[in-house]
Amino acid sequence: MIKISLSDIILDESIYPREKIDQKRVGVFAENIRDGFTFDPIDVQSHPELEGKYRILDGVHRWSAYKATGATEVEASIKDLAGTDPLLYAASRAIGPRQLTEEETRNTARRVFQNNTGLTSSDIGKAIGRSRQAVDLYIADLRAAVQWELDLKIYRLSRLGIPQDRIAKRLGLPRTTLESYLTKLPKLAISSKADLSRGFTVSQVTQKHGWTEPMVWSLALEGKDDLERFKQLNWGLRTWDQWDFNDCDHRFGDNWPGRIPAQLIAHILYYFSKHGVLVFDPMGGGGVTPDVCLAFHRRCWTLDMEDRPDTRPEIEPFYWELEGKGLPEILKAKEKPDLIIFDPPYFSKKAEDYQKESISKLLRKEYLKFFENFFTLMNQKTKKSTRLAFINADWRDFQNKPAADETRDDSILIDNYLKLLNKTGWLHTHIIQAPLSSERFSAGVVAAMQKKRILGVTSRYVVILNKGKPK
Ligand SMILES: C[S@@+](CC[C@H](N)C(=O)[O-])C[C@H]1O[C@@H](n2cnc3c(N)ncnc32)[C@H](O)[C@@H]1O
Repeated sequence: MIKISLSDIILDESIYPREKIDQKRVGVFAENIRDGFTFDPIDVQSHPELEGKYRILDGVHRWSAYKATGATEVEASIKDLAGTDPLLYAASRAIGPRQLTEEETRNTARRVFQNNTGLTSSDIGKAIGRSRQAVDLYIADLRAAVQWELDLKIYRLSRLGIPQDRIAKRLGLPRTTLESYLTKLPKLAISSKADLSRGFTVSQVTQKHGWTEPMVWSLALEGKDDLERFKQLNWGLRTWDQWDFNDCDHRFGDNWPGRIPAQLIAHILYYFSKHGVLVFDPMGGGGVTPDVCLAFHRRCWTLDMEDRPDTRPEIEPFYWELEGKGLPEILKAKEKPDLIIFDPPYFSKKAEDYQKESISKLLRKEYLKFFENFFTLMNQKTKKSTRLAFINADWRDFQNKPAADETRDDSILIDNYLKLLNKTGWLHTHIIQAPLSSERFSAGVVAAMQKKRILGVTSRYVVILNKGKPK
């Protein structure tokens, strides 16, 4: 027990189980204190965000009463909850003459479950003094929503061809639980499919059933050939080796720095892969590749250093090191990808947009070394027929220099990559132009560039490579 300054104690409403402070009770307590009555110490815990501060777990009325009397300190017991939800602890302490009302108990159960959907009804029930059945009723709708979200995640991951052991690990489920989920998957799609066949649009079905749009496309386009898929997505198919698209299609992928147009991925899939093949995206970012793979009936395994387990469980976390030593589970698997789609962050230009360990931050020499190691690893750990689609742009430090002053050492052009690719066993069959939009520069900037004889860059390429013929 120690004395803590009242001003270091904070009432955090997110862990307070009552609707409001009962001022009448505070008044009575304050009078008792003035009469010399001492109360039990209040319970606090160290504040998780504010150093040197505490938040109240139990004793809000006593704390308020001490403040009302002009006291500066209060006796407190500092609790270490060792993983127990603080709201649940606070609710379990709300005993005695002024118990929680029915509404407060119900709200507490719901808030606790929302904070930690892994808690069982009996855990919650024990803390708030209610039966498991009562808690089941309080949280039935929330549990159903969590269940539905989990069902949809499992459906999406398995539709992308992610093996069961990896799905179970990613979603923190025992393997046997996952297996029982998988048997009911086909039923999940019944009502969405029925709505599609009744003429509802993909975006209407997306909204109604809480699916992601690419998942609904994967249902809507089932059994169709690729040309029909392009047509239904309203994407014109490019016949020549210049793929220019005005903008990203916002139905695919998240708003992400360096997001690639979904149409570009679709063109790679169309020309260089077939239905059902396994695609691998080692730096998947906003998830355009898996989304387009869903719509085009390809399987897809994706990695990225940024982990977003709730919204993008299909993008498994992995950090590629400069020396390229660590190997992700994906490349240890028996099945090897048919097509790698590799869209790395550009050198330097986007460095601020990504986490600080991103390869964008490397020095020019290190950046190129990373690629050499990475291409070698991809060559060694895939199969003879694996193809690589490498997306990159020329990088020149043009913003600050007239064209005539630029030097070769200040730039990384596509031929730098081609040399590394050839050196590591990848032979290019196609260099497709997929220019970046020049609309990202305002008229004022363009006029200034012209005046200074600055030559901008819009060149972006999709280089297709294979490992050549077996010798
Ligand atoms: C150009 S973005 C990919 C964008 C993606 N194609 C899209 O359209 O959303 C490159 C990604 O590489 C990831 N990245 C950068 N360095 C990495 C590393 N060393 N290991 C793993 N991921 C890395 C970044 O987090 C970023 O999401």
